[in-house]
Amino acid sequence: MRSGVQAVVGANLCAVPRPYDRLRNARAFPAYPSLPSTTQKMRPRQRRVISRSRGAPSRGRFPRRRQRAIIVRESPDCPHRLRHPRTHLQKEMLVDKVRIGFIGCGGVSNGHASRITNMADAEIVALCDTNANTLTAYKQRHTKLADVSTFSDWRKMLDKVKLDAIEIHTPHTLHYEQIMAGLDRGFHVLTEKPMVCTSAHAHAVVKRVKETGLKLQVSYQRHFERGFRFAKELIASGKFGKVQFVTALQSQEWKRATVGSWRQDPALSGGGQLNDSGSHLIDIVLWVTGLVPAEVSAFIDSCGTKVDINSAVSVKFESGAQANISVVGDGLRWWEDVTIWGEKGILVFRQGEPLVYCSEDRELHMPQAMPGSTDPDRNFIDAILGKAELQVPAECGLRVIQLTEAAWQSAARGGAPVKVAVD
Ligand SMILES: NC(=O)c1ccc[n+]([C@@H]2O[C@H](COP(=O)([O-])OP(=O)(O)OC[C@H]3O[C@@H](n4cnc5c(N)ncnc54)[C@H](O)[C@@H]3O)[C@@H](O)[C@H]2O)c1
Repeated sequence: MRSGVQAVVGANLCAVPRPYDRLRNARAFPAYPSLPSTTQKMRPRQRRVISRSRGAPSRGRFPRRRQRAIIVRESPDCPHRLRHPRTHLQKEMLVDKVRIGFIGCGGVSNGHASRITNMADAEIVALCDTNANTLTAYKQRHTKLADVSTFSDWRKMLDKVKLDAIEIHTPHTLHYEQIMAGLDRGFHVLTEKPMVCTSAHAHAVVKRVKETGLKLQVSYQRHFERGFRFAKELIASGKFGKVQFVTALQSQEWKRATVGSWRQDPALSGGGQLNDSGSHLIDIVLWVTGLVPAEVSAFIDSCGTKVDINSAVSVKFESGAQANISVVGDGLRWWEDVTIWGEKGILVFRQGEPLVYCSEDRELHMPQAMPGSTDPDRNFIDAILGKAELQVPAECGLRVIQLTEAAWQSAARGGAPVKVAVD
């Protein structure tokens, strides 16, 4: 089978200087079963309404969105010995609006705000940012948020506002405390990537999510992109054969663009480009292939900064598969390439889109009938409301930091192989 794959490479890919030109001639890949839509309704589960929540004494007096019911589902993950009585209830809300508080109103949060303010079943009810000017500009930009409460201290916001969920869009090393505080107060959490900056913190988050039964989404949007979903499903189906090799490259003008910002301050960033945009690349390699890393060898160049900028990371997986992950933070522009070699085919992604799927017949195919796409916010709300399965749970954040940490350790030892502590 290995020799078959090499022949495929020789016959179809290496011989083609510009694969784009060949797309017109590529045969359509036969229709492939879609993943369930992330908005597809889950099977009804046994529910028991135990109490109406605070502030909704009668149906007639309050708008429907204030009429809330807490539903308890017995779960082995919700032991009664928990310290936080509110959080041992695995909550689902029979409401038409999930109330969300934002922590961090900088760059990335604008996309989250635009999506949520256009949802009928979610509303942003409070904003927090340490920068008052940012908050003022935010309310002007997102006019639907003109009247929401604002805070400079996120703890005050969590204590004072009636929330169902929080979204965290702050510098990386702040995520851990904010995630844990949110979960402790019984709020579902969507956090921007990377989830946290150490494996120890990631383990603690995974544990607390299990204990509370709350939803924690890591905002890795590639999980919702049709190309990556197609690839994941194809590999999981067995039709691609065992994954043998992965090359993943990401290039960005990161070093120059982040000079003087928190991103180059290890106390706030927890790392450099590997932990920032590179975190998407590591996540997608692990999530799409399902491979479990065993050992990592890495060389990292910080290019005169205090954080990693260019990283060459080689990974050996438990299955015997190998990967080269290249993160170039000193590049001239954004570029992302992922190629996955399997026993029965090759998947070629350029800039997130699967250009070709090369199968055992040694022909180039264009993937057809790819699963639909959505986004982390939509799926987060649907998961809270019990309408869909959460797509990027805390375990994804754990896997990424385990590999990243091993890479940092290897680089600190001159590239010596370091075992990845996966458990
Ligand atoms: N998923 C993606 O593609 C993507 C893209 C960009 C950024 N991100 C992630 O989003 C997060 C934020 O990145 P960004 O680009 O928006 O950064 P940013 O610097 O533009 O915004 C961060 C905001 O957090 C605020 N802040 C800092 N400390 C705070 C605190 N203690 N309490 C409340 N607010 C505080 C800052 O004032 C700032 O407005 C990071 O985790 C980053 O990696 C993800």
